[in-house]
Amino acid sequence: MDAPLRVFITAEQIQKRVAELGARIDADYPDGPIYLVAILKGACFFLADLARAIKTPVRLDFMGISSYGRGKTSSGEVKVLKDLDTSIEGHHVLIVEDIVDSGVTLSYLMNLLEQRKPKSIRIAALLDKPDRRLRPVEVAYRGFQIPDEFVVGYGLDYAEDYRNLKDICILG
Ligand code: IMP
Ligand code: MG
Repeated sequence: MDAPLRVFITAEQIQKRVAELGARIDADYPDGPIYLVAILKGACFFLADLARAIKTPVRLDFMGISSYGRGKTSSGEVKVLKDLDTSIEGHHVLIVEDIVDSGVTLSYLMNLLEQRKPKSIRIAALLDKPDRRLRPVEVAYRGFQIPDEFVVGYGLDYAEDYRNLKDICILG
């Protein structure tokens, strides 16, 4: 029953890259706080590491979005399952996401949050699969560009499994 897993990006490579992204974010945001808005649940490990790689003051909030069923491709339909706890009006917002695939989720979310008048809004995504893009999404801080493979680990799941793997692995 267990699908084969191949290590694709190691925990060490992830940590090194997250530290680089944190340093770039610090350089770009001299004045905090930065409102880090993480998309549940896949981005939670990336958020935890990225937030600690940033020295500029940050605040944390979460959004729950559903666009995938239990399969490997998006249903194309985006629903907000959990909204932010706080107002982002007049604040720097950095959306923290695990992976940009079709771009449907993030383009929807950018539109939604822009209407709430943040001072600025950008995206940090650990992984980017540009081959599969259906909607344009501008990723300001990208961890790794990857080919069209389904990956799990470091927060990413397949049907809710594998999120706690330390490395990012290709499934199947
Ligand atoms: P998009 O709306 O198609 O860009 O989908 C983004 C969401 O799909 C991500 O937040 C992930 O939850 C999920 N996703 C896309 N590709 C993968 C993958 O390779 N592994 C695990 N989840 C994925
Ligand atoms: Mg996700």
